[in-house]
Amino acid sequence: NKLDLNEIRTAFLDFYEERKHTRLKSFSLVPKDDASLFLINAGMAPLKAYFLGEKKMENNRAVSSQRCVRTQDIESVGKTDRHATYFEMLGDFSFGDYFKNEAIHWAFEFLTKVIGLEKDRLWITVYKDDEEAFRIWTEEMGIAPDHMFKLGKEDNFWELDQGPCGPCSEIHYDRGEKYGEGTSPLDNSDRFMEIWNLVFTQFDKKSDGTYEPLANPNIDTGMGLERIAVVVEDVANIFEVSTFRPLRDKIETLSGKKYGQSA
Ligand code: SER
Repeated sequence: NKLDLNEIRTAFLDFYEERKHTRLKSFSLVPKDDASLFLINAGMAPLKAYFLGEKKMENNRAVSSQRCVRTQDIESVGKTDRHATYFEMLGDFSFGDYFKNEAIHWAFEFLTKVIGLEKDRLWITVYKDDEEAFRIWTEEMGIAPDHMFKLGKEDNFWELDQGPCGPCSEIHYDRGEKYGEGTSPLDNSDRFMEIWNLVFTQFDKKSDGTYEPLANPNIDTGMGLERIAVVVEDVANIFEVSTFRPLRDKIETLSGKKYGQSA
């Protein structure tokens, strides 16, 4: 029996709570005490003070499903299967506690054991100099080296204008030929959907653009809830997942237009 979107959210929060993460409620979309952002655009955004060590959390671990708006995605909405303006981001966070090893092991365990994705359909990118992440994925998780890519800063380094940032590893899932062209995530089609970004946060980016190493490296992961629901529910796009359908039906009624009749 496949999980639906609401069940995936619960399973994720439970999984990390069992691993000693503090379960957080979603923060408001409106940032508090952060003049660098207009709207919250990632699970980590309301947690910056914890990443910087200014505030403390029990066990130095947290898990959340955070409401997000990404204004930079608006141009892609309606053109891809996976972009929305408003979405929820699932994330596990370590504030100077665990690092790469646990982050990768748990992500892999959640995807393959809890929600039942197939290991051989996972495709992974890592930052080009991150030999450690490459080794953990191939040797410990058993990902085939031909499902791995080492990419540069543009793809595998995550940062906002300011604040905690670092190299990252992105997890993609091959949804199969019926969902798009291409032979790997490098082809940027909707077949190989990016589902989860694991950021190995080890710098604090200053307003002048310099990177200051953090005393204790952190983990910041982000998985689009609607995207992982697309994969698990095996539907064509985010507008077809279980929780979106009632909204779509209402829009059909209000607009007098049927979904799917034309591009
Ligand atoms: N901050 C990273 C992202 O938004 C991971 O949570 O992708």
